[in-house]
Amino acid sequence: MFMQKNLFSHLPQRYGSYALVTGASEGIGQCFAEELAKSGMNVVLVARRLDRLNALALSLEAKYKILCPVIQADLSSADGVERVLELTENLELGLLVCNAGFGSAGDFLDVDLETEVNMLNVNCTAVTKLVHHFARKFKMKGTGAVILLSSIVATQGVARSAHYAATKAYVQTLGEGLQQEWRGSGLDLLIVAPGPVNTGFAKRSKMQLGKAATPEVVAKQALQALGQKKMVHPGGLAKCMSLALSTAPRALRIKIMGAIMGSMTRHLSP
Ligand SMILES: NC(=O)c1ccc[n+]([C@@H]2O[C@H](COP(=O)([O-])OP(=O)(O)OC[C@H]3O[C@@H](n4cnc5c(N)ncnc54)[C@H](OP(=O)(O)O)[C@@H]3O)[C@@H](O)[C@H]2O)c1
Repeated sequence: MFMQKNLFSHLPQRYGSYALVTGASEGIGQCFAEELAKSGMNVVLVARRLDRLNALALSLEAKYKILCPVIQADLSSADGVERVLELTENLELGLLVCNAGFGSAGDFLDVDLETEVNMLNVNCTAVTKLVHHFARKFKMKGTGAVILLSSIVATQGVARSAHYAATKAYVQTLGEGLQQEWRGSGLDLLIVAPGPVNTGFAKRSKMQLGKAATPEVVAKQALQALGQKKMVHPGGLAKCMSLALSTAPRALRIKIMGAIMGSMTRHLSP
């Protein structure tokens, strides 16, 4: 019988037996977990919604005969991040996917500040702590990989999603710097910068997406690029948008992305 070759079966050998995916309960993170489990890696699943994590763990363990420890953690809190570090202490982890994150839309002065601070904690502070903790371990072993979720919004200011874009600019800049620092160390770092993706993200962030990539495409194209490229814009739309933006001066990019976000948030205007 013809068996389809698993494109990612080299991952356990290259990085070790365990991967950790934050934000694995839905969307892009869930697809990363599926692809990594399919590759033969055990996958630690992290998010807040325990019912969804448990259901995913059961399904992946049955389908791929791997282990999926579940960690319920709110990454907007220091305790939540600490819980992840403690509960993974004895695992041979070699691949970290910092995927958990959310956005917000509307004029910055009208949005709820507590939500914005939580977003900063999840999108930036938790990422910083997790990368610092796990990459130090990877460095001691001389191998390991980190995947960071940036966005097409990360490379310029974006009106009506100004703070979300700023959190992704943080992730993008952190990733670029670390790539340079880690040259020759055996550590891989991939920046994933999608355009719109059809997940729970739009509803949470109150954006109305038009054409969008699927989360499956994002996870697959990211894992294909890991260890080969520094950055990937998964899906046709993100590739076109990044190409178009790359030729424009920053001031023009700010205008273009402001107009795009304006159309995605028009329903929020009084
Ligand atoms: N979708 C897009 O258009 C798009 C575009 C560019 C970049 N991205 C980035 O891609 C990443 C994944 O987004 P997605 O599209 O897959 O969104 P999603 O479907 O809304 O999933 C977000 C995931 O993050 C988790 N999460 C959110 N807040 C959390 C918290 N406080 N603690 C722990 N986990 C938390 C959620 O789990 P729980 O709710 O169970 O905690 C969920 O599993 C994000 O970093 C996002 O910024 C998305």
